[in-house]
Amino acid sequence: MKLEELSSRIRECRRCGLWKSRTQAVPGEGPEKARVMLIGEAPGREEDLQGRPFVGRAGRFLTQQLSRLGYSRENFFITNVVKCRPPGNRKPRSEEIKACHKWLEEQIRLVKPKLIILLGATAAEAFGLNLKERGKFIKKEGRVIFVTYHPAGAMRNKKLKGIFIQDLKKGLSKIF
Ligand code: URA
Repeated sequence: MKLEELSSRIRECRRCGLWKSRTQAVPGEGPEKARVMLIGEAPGREEDLQGRPFVGRAGRFLTQQLSRLGYSRENFFITNVVKCRPPGNRKPRSEEIKACHKWLEEQIRLVKPKLIILLGATAAEAFGLNLKERGKFIKKEGRVIFVTYHPAGAMRNKKLKGIFIQDLKKGLSKIF
C-alpha cells in the first residue's frame, strides 16, 4: 500500500467514535521518504477544518521554530497519534489512541523515518514513553525515538520554549 492510499483509508475510518464529530480526518502530510516524522497528539479545530496537521496556532509556532533552525516543514512527515479531532479538544482516550495506532504503525512502516520525534506527553505515552525521557535518543523496536514538549506547551511557557528549541536542534542535527 502507498501512503496516498493509506491516507484515503484513514479519511474513511470509523474504528472509534471520533468519526461522528469530525469535519474530516487528518491523516498527516509529508514526503513518502521523509527522514524525520513529527508526531503530535490530535487535530485541533483548525486542523479538523483544513484536513492538515499542525496548521493552527501551535502548528504555526512549530513551523516557525523549524524554519528558524533552518528546516522547512515540507521536509518532515507530520502527523498525530489520533487522526480525528476529539470534541472540544479534549485529550484523546486510550481506546481512541489504541484504535488509531494501527494507522500510525502503517505510516511508520511506509515512510521508514530515521528519527521519530514525539511532541508532548500524549504522543510519548502512545509509544510507552513519557516526558521524563525527553531530549534523549531512545532505541525501541528498531526505531530511534526522541521525545520533546508539545509546541502548544512550549509556545505558552518561556522556559519550555527554550528547551523545546534546544531539543529540536539536537534531534534534527543528528539527521541532517
Ligand atoms: N496539536 C496537535 O497535537 N496536533 C495538531 O495537528 C495540531 C495541534
